Amino acid sequence: MHTHNIPVIAIDGPSASGKGTVAQLVANTLGFHYLDSGALYRLVALKTMQTHTDITDITKLAEIARNLAVVFENNKIFLEDNDATNAIRTEECGILASKLASYPPVREALTARQRAFCQIPGLVADGRDMGSVIFPNAPLKIFLTASAGVRAQRRYKQLNEKGINANIADLLRDIEKRDAQDSNRSVAPLQQGTDARLLDTTTLSITQAKETVLAWYTEICANK
Ligand code: CDP
Repeated sequence: MHTHNIPVIAIDGPSASGKGTVAQLVANTLGFHYLDSGALYRLVALKTMQTHTDITDITKLAEIARNLAVVFENNKIFLEDNDATNAIRTEECGILASKLASYPPVREALTARQRAFCQIPGLVADGRDMGSVIFPNAPLKIFLTASAGVRAQRRYKQLNEKGINANIADLLRDIEKRDAQDSNRSVAPLQQGTDARLLDTTTLSITQAKETVLAWYTEICANK
């Protein structure tokens, strides 16, 4: 099947910006598939920790990425039949994911897997390089962000709801560290592409952010 005719909404942005929540709501509204690409990097990190793999052994890490036995099902994520939905959300996992994501062979090993999510009637994909690398032909590309302080509060709330302990000062420090790591890497760095629309959600509710994305998509469809 020619996937280039299938509409993709690519939502990229920094850590804890709320892009995952917005992407999921947009996907539900449109009846589109949803790709949480960050979850794949987090799964590679989880498997790396579980197997005590040397985090400088890039060949082994790419192998883990290529062979990841993962199933996304009804808002749950299974790694080798074990429910990994919450295990991948720890800060430890996020920090390691960000580190592994800076290795080109790891990224390449996940490329085809991400593109396979592009199926009719359409896809909403969130991450760091959805618009720039994975789905360069996406008709709508969005760079969704918010101030670091607001993102720390959002992450705090998200972890709290999952029963994971955290404090805002530590989260803010992690977010700033991860921003620097994700923005400064040489491969697929986090940045707003020239063809991406900026959606700053610092003062927007989730619903307002979702409505903005849907309005932009409607506009694009009307102008086709
Ligand atoms: O939840 P949060 O936004 O903090 O992170 P995530 O989207 O779950 O992604 C975890 C890490 O994976 C990020 O810090 C990125 O380094 C990396 N990542 C990436 O490099 N490319 C993507 N498309 C998605 C995530």
